[in-house]
Amino acid sequence: MSQKVFIFDTTLRDGEQVPGCKLNTKEKLEIAVRLEELGVDILEAGFPVSSPGDFESVNQIAKTLKNTVVCGLTRAVQNDIEVAAAALKPAKRFRIHTGIGTSDLHIKHKFNSTREEIIERAIKAVTIARNFTDDVEFYAEDAGRTDNEYLARVIEAVVKAGATTLNIPDTTGYCLPQQYQEKMNYLYNNVPNIDKAILSCHCHNDLGLATANSIAGVIGGARQIECTINGLGERAGNTALEEVVMILNQHKDLGFYTSINPKLLNAVSREVSEVMRMMVQPNKAIVGSNAFSHSSGIHQDGFLKEAQTYEIMNPAEVGAEDSKIVLTARSGRSALAHRLHKLGHQFTRNDIDELYPKFLEIADKKKEVLEADLQAMAEEHKK
Ligand code: KIV
Ligand code: ZN
Repeated sequence: MSQKVFIFDTTLRDGEQVPGCKLNTKEKLEIAVRLEELGVDILEAGFPVSSPGDFESVNQIAKTLKNTVVCGLTRAVQNDIEVAAAALKPAKRFRIHTGIGTSDLHIKHKFNSTREEIIERAIKAVTIARNFTDDVEFYAEDAGRTDNEYLARVIEAVVKAGATTLNIPDTTGYCLPQQYQEKMNYLYNNVPNIDKAILSCHCHNDLGLATANSIAGVIGGARQIECTINGLGERAGNTALEEVVMILNQHKDLGFYTSINPKLLNAVSREVSEVMRMMVQPNKAIVGSNAFSHSSGIHQDGFLKEAQTYEIMNPAEVGAEDSKIVLTARSGRSALAHRLHKLGHQFTRNDIDELYPKFLEIADKKKEVLEADLQAMAEEHKK
């Protein structure tokens, strides 16, 4: 039987940390409602102690959402946790996400501390958070570069203190998929009380590996993925929600499922892109404007004979517009005939052979041959 992978969306927290993407309460609320419709299990609404505006946004989201668990981020600091709890209080279900850096680099340079002291601070933070809710997630910041044996000790201690989800962030996007999978697997097999909690993937995309690492983490034993719409996030971004959801959806052989409605992926992507004023690159998987466009002759010919030759999913499955046959100087006769046919022109094979050199002439001059060019060509040919 397939196992569920929980989707933890952090578009409104880690995603919103992108310069220029800051949202006001109304915008955050609008997106939160859409994310709930999309089916995210947990929504990280913000970092309440960071500003009065963020407190207000988290509070409004907590008052509004009906099914999704609303989460707030904190440092391992008592006041952060108390403020987050106050902001989240009206929620039907809420989670406090607290944690601290665990790599030697963070321990030395950020905290001027020791491994033992960090464990004590982690235990204290989780214990305080448990006074407000029994849904406490702990993050071991820079876990990607944290020694596995030490990380296992931290995790064991915070589970004992009451953490129910364990976030293992590859904060700097450094890990290779195999390393991240081994890290999860190590924790899964070496933390004695791991059965009392869920391991979570939180991957950054500095080397373009965030999606691959998240999937590797799930294969290694994690059952939650932290991600953002369109992969938004600081620097090179976070794991893209739409990518991990569709990978698990397409690879049923892996034996996992999520509660996301894939048909809403493109609409939510567009909405987030507009509200955050962050364009989606055309070649972005699942939600880019070229994700279902075919422009080379060989691909177009195959696609027109049988779509599955060049498409692993139907655009309707992810709420995208129909596949497009784009006409360029690399397109062939079948694509030209197809597009003319769609415009209502029934040309014979001979007609297409005659039209094709003219088409190439135009295509060589332009990046793309447009409908108006085709109409003009067709009218000219009929004279
Ligand atoms: O990348 C990271 O380590 C984080 C934590 C604060 C969860 O975003
Ligand atoms: Zn992060």
